[in-house]
Amino acid sequence: MKRVGILTGGGDCPGLNAVIRAVTKSLILKYDVEAVAFEDGFLGLIERRSRVLDFDAVSGILQQGGTVLGTSNKANPFDHPAETNGHIEYKDVSDDCVAYIKELGLSALVCIGGDGTMAISKKLIEKGVPVVGVPKTIDNDIYHTDVTFGYDTAVSIASEAIDRIHTTAQSHHRVMIIEVMGRYAGWLTLGAGIAGGADIILIPEMDYNLDAVCDRVVERSKKGRRFSIIAVSEGAKPQGGERVVSRIVEDSPDQIRLGGISIKLGNDIEDRTGLETRATVLGHLQRGGSPTAYDRVLATRYGVRAAELVANKEFNQMVALKGNQIVSVPIADVGGRTRNVSVDSPLIEAAVAVGTSMGQR
Ligand code: F6P
Repeated sequence: MKRVGILTGGGDCPGLNAVIRAVTKSLILKYDVEAVAFEDGFLGLIERRSRVLDFDAVSGILQQGGTVLGTSNKANPFDHPAETNGHIEYKDVSDDCVAYIKELGLSALVCIGGDGTMAISKKLIEKGVPVVGVPKTIDNDIYHTDVTFGYDTAVSIASEAIDRIHTTAQSHHRVMIIEVMGRYAGWLTLGAGIAGGADIILIPEMDYNLDAVCDRVVERSKKGRRFSIIAVSEGAKPQGGERVVSRIVEDSPDQIRLGGISIKLGNDIEDRTGLETRATVLGHLQRGGSPTAYDRVLATRYGVRAAELVANKEFNQMVALKGNQIVSVPIADVGGRTRNVSVDSPLIEAAVAVGTSMGQR
């Protein structure tokens, strides 16, 4: 075994470069194996765009955000748009991808990504491609791992944003709502809400009761606490209501993009309570910039272990964190599933124990 492919798939997140560096350096130093990178995730595999990563190519990138390889959260070898006679048809081009992997002489593929990337990896494995996965996402919702890299950084960014909103909320005596990413999982909002001392935390796993939310802000106001901070997940919804969709991305595997619940909630609170309310949608800044030290360490441990799995021919596994141990789990058990916050989570228990409302009656 002398050459291994590597790609980053799905939305970017802090720590991707730290993984790329760790995989590449340890493959070269420990196992004398060369890494060949596909550009823009699975799109590079489909479009035959690849380059060899030498030691220098991955030096000095540990602390950089984003991914030096580029990524795509649309490309899928099993469902790729191609123009025929002026109209778009979706085709399975995975056989061409497998042929390209063989032509490059790759003995395995390291796929760094979220649940979408793991779902595609699972299908590539079924076609005989040996894969090792590394779990990435700010959403922290990948099955069979306690933590994904990128989550800690996003929690830090969102909690710092809550700190900043706190001072302006206090000055203007307003209800301030901060909308946090995370898709259908509340990990990011819960982490940032606890770290930022939010008064109310609303997550997708627990539909909120609008009366309970309004009662809490009014109660605070009556007690002389003339401001309230609400951290709300983009995927949260009121009891009996719907999630707010910001856009449909037709050519993306998971077409729905969430966003805008904070605006709706703000209007509802203002209408019901008369308290002045403002909403801030944090958006993509939660995914940008340099990874925290925790994420750099986790990403490095993940990358080194991924290289080890490749060298030991322990394929079709994803590296994962269980407690403080880096372990590996079958990609087949991960792809297509997501991990949500359970209502009896110790994190929720801790939030409630310090008086935070989860918007329940
Ligand atoms: O999965 C990461 C994530 O940032 C989600 O939290 C968010 O819902 C989504 O990606 C946004 O996707 P896009 O970058 O396509 O707008």
